Amino acid sequence: MMVRINDNCTGCGRCIVDCISDAIMIKDGRAKAVRPCIACGHCYAICPVKAPVLSGVDMEDVEEINPAAFVDSKALLHTIKGRRSIRKYQERSIEEDKLDLLFEAGRYTATAVNYQDLRFIVVQERLAEFKELIWNGLAEMAKSPEKYPDIERYAGHLKKKAENPADDYLFRNAPAIIFVVTDRPVDAGMAAQNMELAAVAQGLGVMYNGYMVRAANMVPGAAEWLQTMGRPVSACMLAGYPAVTYLRSAPRKEADVIRK
Ligand SMILES: Cc1cc2nc3c(=O)[nH]c(=O)nc-3n(C[C@H](O)[C@H](O)[C@H](O)COP(=O)(O)O)c2cc1C
Repeated sequence: MMVRINDNCTGCGRCIVDCISDAIMIKDGRAKAVRPCIACGHCYAICPVKAPVLSGVDMEDVEEINPAAFVDSKALLHTIKGRRSIRKYQERSIEEDKLDLLFEAGRYTATAVNYQDLRFIVVQERLAEFKELIWNGLAEMAKSPEKYPDIERYAGHLKKKAENPADDYLFRNAPAIIFVVTDRPVDAGMAAQNMELAAVAQGLGVMYNGYMVRAANMVPGAAEWLQTMGRPVSACMLAGYPAVTYLRSAPRKEADVIRK
């Protein structure tokens, strides 16, 4: 992508200093894009007169940033310590505006080379249909373990389900599941973490579900149903209103830190 510099430019050069791609130069007292870049948008974010223009994005979608309004470090750390993997949920759907905020938090996450190639899929309305697809798919795969060696991991889930059809161990009765689809697992994990914090900030909770990631990728028909467009599900979180209240943080190992 090539940034365009509009007539507002005063030639202050801030964009040049902050450009990761060395894509901008001063020419005749004004900034000029001289080569394609990764479209990280730093030039626009730093420009006092909004001179850079990026293509393929909504330039009106940015917001003015006030560092004084950032969450303070104590509150942030308290939230991080207070978040828990939620395995019991209230019977209550997540409101659309709350989901929107999660996707906003995911969308603004750093991505390698500014790739931004993440698809967020929320299954809430059609969750019963999805569950049926997964449970039936796993049961079917279990009939051919030689063809699907990973099905062994779900033996316990399937046994519980067979003993008690109401057992929802895999889905934990969560009202929603959020999938992050990308072939870049680090990008997915980071987006998921931002979404978790955005969830907690709204009274919601999540649980990363490694089993569901694997199931979504291996159960025949699941990827098509989810509309992953041929890319892997790289992260998955159950989500909803917690039905439990934690009174304190959980103990953790000491941080393994090396300072040099
Ligand atoms: C990548 C990943 C996959 C996870 N998969 C599962 C899972 O399949 N089932 C589960 O009960 N918890 C899962 N967890 C949650 C962890 O067990 C949990 O984070 C850990 O026990 C610490 O508890 P806390 O998150 O409440 O602090 C997963 C966590 C991560 C980061």
